[in-house]
Amino acid sequence: MWLSAVLICVFPVISATPFNRQWEEDMSVRHSWLELPRGWRRLSSPSPNHTFDLHVGLKQHRLDVLISDLLQISDPTHPRYGQHLTKEETEDLVKPHPDTLDAVEDWIISHGINSSRFHYPTGGQDHIDLRVSVAEAERMLNAKYEFYRHKSSGDTILRTMSYSLPRALQPHIDVVSPTTYFGTTRSMRSTSFLQPEVQPLDALEPIVQPISDTVRSSSCDLINTPACLRDLYNTTNYEPQAMDRNRLGIAGYLDQFSNDADLQTFESKFRPEAIGFTVPTVQINGGRNNQTEPGIEANLDVQYGVGISYPTPNVYYSTGGSPPYIADSQTPMNTNEPYLDWLTYILAQPTIPQVITTSYGDDEQTVPVDYATRICNLFVQLGARGTTVFFSSGDFGVGGGDCFKNDGSNRVEFQPGFPASCPFVTAVGGTTHVNPEIGVNFSGGGFSRYFTRPAYQSGPVSQYLVALGDTYAGQFNPNGRAYPDIAAQGTGYQVVVGGHIVSVGGTSASSPTVAAIFSLLNDVRLSQNKSTLGFINPLLYSTAVPGLNDIVSGSNPGCQTDGFTAKEGWDPVTGLGTPNFSRLRSLISG
Ligand SMILES: *[C@@H]1O[C@H](CO)[C@@H](O)[C@H](O)[C@H]1NC(C)=O
Ligand SMILES: *[C@@H]1O[C@H](CO)[C@@H](O)[C@H](O)[C@H]1NC(C)=O
Ligand SMILES: *[C@@H]1O[C@H](CO)[C@@H](O)[C@H](O)[C@H]1NC(C)=O
Ligand SMILES: *[C@@H]1O[C@H](CO)[C@@H](O)[C@H](O)[C@H]1NC(C)=O
Ligand SMILES: *[C@@H]1O[C@H](CO)[C@@H](O)[C@H](O)[C@H]1NC(C)=O
Ligand SMILES: *[C@@H]1O[C@H](CO)[C@@H](O)[C@H](O)[C@H]1NC(C)=O
Ligand SMILES: *[C@@H]1O[C@H](CO)[C@@H](O)[C@H](O)[C@H]1NC(C)=O
Repeated sequence: MWLSAVLICVFPVISATPFNRQWEEDMSVRHSWLELPRGWRRLSSPSPNHTFDLHVGLKQHRLDVLISDLLQISDPTHPRYGQHLTKEETEDLVKPHPDTLDAVEDWIISHGINSSRFHYPTGGQDHIDLRVSVAEAERMLNAKYEFYRHKSSGDTILRTMSYSLPRALQPHIDVVSPTTYFGTTRSMRSTSFLQPEVQPLDALEPIVQPISDTVRSSSCDLINTPACLRDLYNTTNYEPQAMDRNRLGIAGYLDQFSNDADLQTFESKFRPEAIGFTVPTVQINGGRNNQTEPGIEANLDVQYGVGISYPTPNVYYSTGGSPPYIADSQTPMNTNEPYLDWLTYILAQPTIPQVITTSYGDDEQTVPVDYATRICNLFVQLGARGTTVFFSSGDFGVGGGDCFKNDGSNRVEFQPGFPASCPFVTAVGGTTHVNPEIGVNFSGGGFSRYFTRPAYQSGPVSQYLVALGDTYAGQFNPNGRAYPDIAAQGTGYQVVVGGHIVSVGGTSASSPTVAAIFSLLNDVRLSQNKSTLGFINPLLYSTAVPGLNDIVSGSNPGCQTDGFTAKEGWDPVTGLGTPNFSRLRSLISG
């Protein structure tokens, strides 16, 4: 059941006999939309000789072995616990079967594309990159490419409403992109928002000292600073040791840049011993780093990454990009495939930060299932190599807006978010207030429709569902991967943007906070010469439970319902609860 979650749209390998003309005869639709994805409008047709880069994701031959390896090395009771794989070992497991390479190359060449025009950019050879003209791509994929413009961001992308593959190739190809995934680096939702109603600290004294119970119950109830969070989650007195080996990665999209001067101001106000500490930006695939445009999301992520994990090195990834759109340009345009671009880059690195946090997501139903499955399976490689991957769970409770299904039925259903719904990432929900901490009403949570429930969470999630009874029956998938897994404060974060302090809320704030705490836990492990925690979900749902503060009130309304309610044990508002560093530290040091 667990494996079928991830192999959802992967077909059994059948051996393919090369035969040129037949490729074109027996095409079957891989994915198509009934209606144009929300927020987009058709702009114009490209010239047939307009070129772009096509990414053909090949079936990863021994993915099932990679997944079972991952589950063993992440299971704290397994003899292989912590024995992460090397880059070469993971690449070896994702290498396509020779039949796959033969069949796919044969298909490409049958379209008159010389083998000098395509290449395998990764060590695992699990995808092919080729530069094609619109005419070539349309012939190969039985597609009709158009330019589409995103109404609010103005982003322009080249996509098709549908694409097909020769039937004989279906088992060999996981995904082709860009095709029907309309997300772009700027239309994706960043999970943070300004909270003008929360009076920022500017006028108040900076809170830099550890906080007494009296202060905590007043100021730290409404606002959050590194001092508040370090106190609440009990990291204040921990001194990191493994700065030479440990790193916290923050992935950013949406043309968001972390501002260096703002980080310095933030440090001087909220973490004075960190003054002068900087965070390098790695620019991926045309990702920019414009210091005159500080981003709220990027500044939030970096300031709280540093604010809690200091002096652990942090790194910010700015993934491109939105080049100016030139209607008649013959030069290849950026394909705006955020997750694939970032994952391709990071998996090619010899060393990867041991914790990575990302505060972006889409409604799962807006991401084609083949694309979502492929991305989710790429996260398996990060986990296998010993990296913990956090995603914010979303800011719309069980679903924002009208929650119509996009299958033409116009049924209303809860809207799970992706990548939070991928069983190989750790999804972070939000809380608010202290004494007691409660689930915040925007905290994204629910049950995936794409991925079935992994075994590691089946006990606690079943308990919740039994207690829920028939409530919301039919509005969510009771067999789906359930999220979030964990939570942290999500309101009143004091962030320096353009020299001023603003209050920011969102699970975007929760994710870097949890990531920074787990980065400190990795520091504990590394300074004991132990392996990093890697994929933590099996640990969270077992050994780590006593190290989490169970959050037992709050709810996440959405889709015109009251949403789910937080209660004892796991719940779809706050997951298993918020981290207590001191207790987790003793649980993982044993
Ligand atoms: C592209 O196609 C147009 C007509 O469709 C043609 O006029 C133009 O010369 C072509 N450009 C190139 C670089 O082949
Ligand atoms: C393919 O490209 C190579 C290198 O550009 C060239 O030598 C070869 O003749 C080409 N083959 C065909 C069939 O066009
Ligand atoms: C955790 O909290 C306890 C009780 O307040 C305190 O004694 C301890 O020093 C804290 N540990 C850390 C690492 O902050
Ligand atoms: C940086 O941002 C500023 C303000 O938006 C803009 O004027 C400038 O052209 C940008 N620089 C680059 C290199 O994009
Ligand atoms: C969530 O809580 C905030 C603050 O208490 C309130 O203003 C808002 O209306 C609530 N949202 C929903 C959907 O209940
Ligand atoms: C970790 O390994 C290093 C180098 O092998 C050694 O010097 C150090 O004492 C070890 N630390 C612990 C806690 O075992
Ligand atoms: C976290 O754990 C420490 C050590 O067990 C304890 O003293 C502290 O009260 C706990 N913090 C919370 C918020 O439960």
